[in-house]
Amino acid sequence: MTSDTHVTASGNEMSASFLAAQERSEKTMAKLVENPSKFTMLTGDRPTGRLHLGHYFGSIKERVAMQNRGVNTNIIIADYQVITDRDTTEHIADNVLNLVLDYLAAGIDPEKTMIFTHSAIAAENQLMLPFLSLVTEAELHRNPTVKAEMEASGHTLTGLLLTYPVHQACDILFCKANVVPIGKDNLPHIEITRTIARRFNERYAKKNPVFPEPAAILSDTPEIPGLDGRKMSKSYGNSIMLGATAEETTKLIKKSPTDSERRITFDPVNRPQVSALITTASLVTGRKPEDIATEIGDSGAGALKAYVIESVNTFLAPHRERRAELAKDMDSIRDILRDGNKRATAIAEETLNQVREAMGMMY
Ligand code: TRP
Repeated sequence: MTSDTHVTASGNEMSASFLAAQERSEKTMAKLVENPSKFTMLTGDRPTGRLHLGHYFGSIKERVAMQNRGVNTNIIIADYQVITDRDTTEHIADNVLNLVLDYLAAGIDPEKTMIFTHSAIAAENQLMLPFLSLVTEAELHRNPTVKAEMEASGHTLTGLLLTYPVHQACDILFCKANVVPIGKDNLPHIEITRTIARRFNERYAKKNPVFPEPAAILSDTPEIPGLDGRKMSKSYGNSIMLGATAEETTKLIKKSPTDSERRITFDPVNRPQVSALITTASLVTGRKPEDIATEIGDSGAGALKAYVIESVNTFLAPHRERRAELAKDMDSIRDILRDGNKRATAIAEETLNQVREAMGMMY
């Protein structure tokens, strides 16, 4: 095979598996809406910084909706995943606690949703050993997200970066989650999770399968651009943080770049910066981007920014108020996490026992 056909073949294969995942996502969501109590959701975040508006619309909102529908909901704060591509755990405790603050302020109810961290759940981490035996080195090296993360990190590939998708399978399977809301970039990790569940059941638990094959749930919110029209990223300084003050948000929006054309139009391809501002306002107001553009029209970028500032700050005001109130009592935030860790540990120990039983390792 020439290298060209190889690229084409693997490209096609990728998009076929993407389409299959998308179809599975839609079908699963339809079933979930009908019968939420049959579903266990697990998803999570890396505690590398604060959450922004993109996280809210792309994932947090959906988690709250699943929780309120009556799905068994679980959120993992993936602290071990932080060291896949960086050399320090500086600020990690602060980042973890701030994630919990944003979850709660956004409507996550710790009575309904279990919130916990990797590092506290020993039995979950132990699943890594049998799971690693179920995948090949070639499969691990083929993961496009791992490849991209290795390139972005500028480091050589560490053992943890290569194998963290298997660790993510531990996150998902220890609580037997069958739905996993994620972004597109995490799809390869769900694929490997499904493979691990299938191979474990085939090899050790044919009669009495231990693990479900979970479905990825893909968000239908389009990717939210940063204020400058590029991808939202902490390093670009183009994201609206949920926990920022109204003044900080005002400043950030004021200094965001636009173009020299006075008349405001919604044209993401040719006018990414102006359009990113309009998209932001559209999300927080629920209005159509075209309607906002028409309304501002010849009033220009200054008027558009004033509208974005006003609508974003109005939208975030209740979140920020709740967040500030919760932050007055950090001890109870720590208690919530401790309680989640305790509950997750009990579940992980039970699953680990089933695994050892299936493998004939109960002595
Ligand atoms: N990999 C996810 C991210 O980078 C975070 C994560 C860790 C996760 N464990 C998970 C997501 C389990 C879903 C399920 O955002």
